[in-house]
Amino acid sequence: MSAAEANERADAAARRLLNELAGRGPDGIWSAPGRVNLIGEHTDYNDGFVLPFAIDRRTYAAIGTRRDTRLRVASTHAPEVVEVDLDDLDRLFPAHSGTDVPEWAAYPLGVAWALRRQAGAAGAGADIAIASDVPVGAGLSSSAAIEGAVASALGEVWGLGLDRVALARAGRVAENDAVGAPTGIMDQMASMLGQPDAAVFLDCRSLETDIVELGLAAAGLELLVVDTRVAHAHSTGGYRERRAACERGAAAMGVTALRDLTVDDLPEVAARVDDETLRRVRHVVTENQRVLDTVRALRSDGPRAIGALLRASHASMRDDFEISVPELDAAVDAAIAAGAIGARMTGGGFGGAAIALVPREDAATAATDITRAFAASAFRPPHVFTVVPSAGAARDA
Ligand code: GLA
Repeated sequence: MSAAEANERADAAARRLLNELAGRGPDGIWSAPGRVNLIGEHTDYNDGFVLPFAIDRRTYAAIGTRRDTRLRVASTHAPEVVEVDLDDLDRLFPAHSGTDVPEWAAYPLGVAWALRRQAGAAGAGADIAIASDVPVGAGLSSSAAIEGAVASALGEVWGLGLDRVALARAGRVAENDAVGAPTGIMDQMASMLGQPDAAVFLDCRSLETDIVELGLAAAGLELLVVDTRVAHAHSTGGYRERRAACERGAAAMGVTALRDLTVDDLPEVAARVDDETLRRVRHVVTENQRVLDTVRALRSDGPRAIGALLRASHASMRDDFEISVPELDAAVDAAIAAGAIGARMTGGGFGGAAIALVPREDAATAATDITRAFAASAFRPPHVFTVVPSAGAARDA
């Protein structure tokens, strides 16, 4: 099924679900995409640089406004309808043990809570039906897609007049404080600000963005995603530990964030921290530089010039940040062997997806070779598909 067909289906599913939930058609439908990060991994919460793009897989939120203050959410991915009163949101969040909201519902309800806090406004209740064709748990930010669709929808029906950056911030608050995943703001910004055939160059300190044309099709390239189907979760474990290591490194150097260091500072870092922390810091510092170099290369020479940077990024995540897994390494190695210009894992790591930038004529072979490599290592068969850099959040109806 093409992405366009999958999106139409998700849109129709959201309408149907709203009908079941509220017995009527929507007042509006908003959608927001998942994202792929081209380069700049684990740099966002270090106040650094990232270069993600929005993909052609989207999450749809169909909304029916209500006269009372009830908020009801349903999702085609979940068996239950979750209902709360808007005035109870402050008791549910920030999340603490004892919150009986199922995790999936903490995303849309967390967005409602964040918007109300941010805008200081009290809108009326709403019925919200959610359907998506962003693969879940694949490192493509299905959660940011939900947040972006719901934030855009509620922002408009509540008349909050918030810009896209403010809506992205609300999504991040939901993710951090309602769901409890200590992530940065990259995913939400990519989902809100993406543009066709372009990446979003984001300075995570100032939240300033610049659109960088990718020109993939014109250069005869395709972007393959290899979903390893190794599940990851960022609310626990490794992600949190990596974040803590970065904070340790910044504290040892007396800077606000690792963003404030360059490669010239690494010898001094080595003198002040243990070897593991040094490797974590080195990844972030060199990755920030790779983002800047990638933007420059794209602008001067186009996408065929960024292969070495993608490969170096993967090696840094594998060896220094240690967030890759054998399946991701296999995907990257097989893609390169099959003719990819560059390949790397994308997203938080510990599972999820890799990306490969492949000449169009090699794309089919690369997909087959990657699948074969997985079989040879007795890994679960991966899902390999193409994504197209696409538009960010939008009102669809
Ligand atoms: C996850 C988080 C992002 C970012 C990446 C790693 O996707 O949600 O904020 O930290 O991991 O680059």
